[in-house]
Amino acid sequence: MANTIKIPGALDPHVHLRGMDWSHKGTFAGETAAALAGGYWAVLDMPNTPPETTSPQTLATKRAGLAAQAVCDWGVYFGGSQADNTAAYTPEVVSRVCGLKLYNNATTGALLIGDQATRARHYAAWPRTSRIAVHAESETVADILELVRAHRVPTHFCHISTAEEIRHLRAAKEAGLPVTVGVTPHHLFLTEADVAVLGALGRMKPELKTLADQDALWDAIASGVVDVVESDHAPHTLAEKASDRPPAGVPGLETTLPLLCTAVHDMRLTVERMIELVALRPQQIFGVRPGPETYTVIEMTPFTIERANLRTGCGWSPFEGMSVMGKVREVWVRGRRVFDGERVLAGPGSGQSLYGGAA
Ligand code: DOR
Ligand code: ZN
Repeated sequence: MANTIKIPGALDPHVHLRGMDWSHKGTFAGETAAALAGGYWAVLDMPNTPPETTSPQTLATKRAGLAAQAVCDWGVYFGGSQADNTAAYTPEVVSRVCGLKLYNNATTGALLIGDQATRARHYAAWPRTSRIAVHAESETVADILELVRAHRVPTHFCHISTAEEIRHLRAAKEAGLPVTVGVTPHHLFLTEADVAVLGALGRMKPELKTLADQDALWDAIASGVVDVVESDHAPHTLAEKASDRPPAGVPGLETTLPLLCTAVHDMRLTVERMIELVALRPQQIFGVRPGPETYTVIEMTPFTIERANLRTGCGWSPFEGMSVMGKVREVWVRGRRVFDGERVLAGPGSGQSLYGGAA
């Protein structure tokens, strides 16, 4: 195939697959199929879908659902809660999750930790051999850095969106703290100006920011401060988005790789850097390695992002109408072709658990 890019095991370490009590927004089967169609080998699922993944029981429920339905490989986060659930941080739980997620600013779902003393209890209890991923915006970034300094638990800062946050994190890296940085495609390709057109379809947490903030994210990709591009795939139905109180969140699993390939085509990004951002660094940070027979083939051919071509259960994208470069043609996992550019070929439950074996 002429003009293709081969990605060795694309891993999206930040998705909200829904299922369970939020199956009307998306299902494990449907959203993992969207992951394969988007070119991903594996995804790591966030804990804020009810029943929240904050106890051994709800962890087992989610893992059983994924084991039965997932068509791509998967891991799940445990969630820290305001009501202290640190007693659940046993070796059994830690070995079955990709890490702990702490929500430190208000967003979709019930998992907000609003005070530093509670955050500190979670940091003291979670083992340094694993990792913590944080939702931290503006001043909260400094609050979390204080905990990283004190407890030395490797910490991934999700969806960083401002120039100021980047400054803090660059300094933290220079000081040798074990921190990594993720940015999302919506913050890289949309700004607050797009909210006027998109309305609720352009609302997520963190919100879209200024062009200067967006430039700072691209600079931070070039300079190596950013480690990962993560979709923060967070489907909500069009009816919910049209309501008086639309929930925050946008889908992204099927648009992230085409958008980044477009940046490669436009020479804003090298292909080597793109592969680091979507495969090699996420694999290193989250401690997983695909074999050589797990890879994605993307053809550098133009297309327009359209609702009709999306597989996500929510059926829309904030990037609709955009002309992009880069169609996912094939996804191979352990030597089996699981997506052929049109159809998902993997059956329900063929996706494997990356942490802790079969559920
Ligand atoms: O916009 C968001 N939506 N941000 C989050 O942190 C959560 C997510 C969701 O679950 O919908
Ligand atoms: Zn998220």
